[in-house]
Amino acid sequence: MSDAFAREPRWDPKIFPPAANAPRVVQTARMLSNPQGYGLSLRRRLGPVFSLRMFPYRGALVCATDPTSIRAVLTDQDRFVGGEAASFLAPAVGAGSLICTPPPRHLRNRKLLLPPFHGKRIARWSERIQVSVENELPGLLGEGGGPVRAWAQRLTIDVILQVVFGVSDPARLAVFRDALNEFVGMGNLTVLSLPKPLQRDLGRYSPGGRFVRLRARVHALLLEEISTRRAAPGADDVLSLLLEARDEHGVGLTDEEVRDELAGLVMAGYETTATTIAWVIHFLAHNPVARDELIDDLDAGSDTLLKATITEAMRLRPAVYSSIRTATRDTELGGRPVPKDAFVAALFSVTHLDPELWPDPEAFRPQRHLDANVPPYSLTPFGGGVRRCIGTAMAQLEIETVLRGVLKIAVPEPTGPLEAARLMSVTIVPAKGGRVRMRGRALACQGES
Ligand code: HEM
Repeated sequence: MSDAFAREPRWDPKIFPPAANAPRVVQTARMLSNPQGYGLSLRRRLGPVFSLRMFPYRGALVCATDPTSIRAVLTDQDRFVGGEAASFLAPAVGAGSLICTPPPRHLRNRKLLLPPFHGKRIARWSERIQVSVENELPGLLGEGGGPVRAWAQRLTIDVILQVVFGVSDPARLAVFRDALNEFVGMGNLTVLSLPKPLQRDLGRYSPGGRFVRLRARVHALLLEEISTRRAAPGADDVLSLLLEARDEHGVGLTDEEVRDELAGLVMAGYETTATTIAWVIHFLAHNPVARDELIDDLDAGSDTLLKATITEAMRLRPAVYSSIRTATRDTELGGRPVPKDAFVAALFSVTHLDPELWPDPEAFRPQRHLDANVPPYSLTPFGGGVRRCIGTAMAQLEIETVLRGVLKIAVPEPTGPLEAARLMSVTIVPAKGGRVRMRGRALACQGES
């Protein structure tokens, strides 16, 4: 575990907000099996700011669930600082990645990274994203009753490779795809939750050994790509823009910094986008009225309902369950004590289901976002403040492109009940991967006639 975990204060009910009495192992199990339901039940019993005694936190994760405390956690940088809470990811993404960089370095690197992810620039790549979606569509339609998440994971890797890394050669794409799939998938990253000694390379077949080998392969590929791009600058992709970026002193990122940022972008952008795609399509399959209204709206050339539909899915099941910071000093939140160095979560996955903010919160109603008048910080699936997700525009463009492509030719239908939400690392995933059946739209029309 990193320094931040070593400094974390031990559990003491006098210095933390109230917690449930259940043992840590029980609270962890309940969070993993029903993250939002358990969070809501704790909030009802303990109030909007409470402690969650969950692994890997030795003390407790202080959870903020009302908009006022969420705003404080996300924006009050004097009291709550980001970066350290994600430092356990450093062995995978490299300590230089934005995700785990504390200030002041974070702000300098973020300024260099932001321009390529600006909405207008990302829009230029929409054709490239569309081609990826079209290439992958047969896989989704052909799978009958398949889990959308697995399909969306393949798509997301492809989009990141093409838009972010600028890889287009099919052979090179295949090599990269294999290396990344093995590195970020297949349980490889669970090694990060093991105690430090077990994370080490203890031989070829140890989890640490496998992790180190796969990481070396990904790093070598990234460095090759960086040196090719340095030799022939000016290509139209995020990597080339990153290599050209300079801070106010005219200093750019080193090869190792760029490598870490690229690895971080894969980590941050892959599961999150794929999981959101799975939830949106799964919810549409289970809500035929909203689904058919969306299809009609898209057919009419509008994207009003498209955006509202994605927002509604992200309200109900935000891909990331919270944004986490550490307390810089002894402080308070919502009138409750928070000790220095405690981990503090803006637990927006619970806020999104607050019936006072969102009437009939479990209902999938995209229309509610057309005239939404909710307090600020009631809906923050991309986090907030100086660490708000930099991939927001890219993720939205990708999800919109997927929905347009899919719904033009197919109608998602349920294959069973709505799937429960599970917590996998920091991601809220559908328990069975978001299964749906895809009915071809021509067939749908024949069926109705
Ligand atoms: C639906 C898809 C996505 C969701 C739900 C999502 C959500 C989030 C959240 C909640 C955070 C933490 C914000 C905070 O701490 O306040 C974050 C950070 C981040 N995301 Fe995303 N993300 C998505 C897609 C992407 C994509 C596509 C990329 C880039 C390819 C990306 C890159 C990042 C980076 C680099 C950070 C760290 C920002 C920082 O610390 O300054 N994300 N994301």
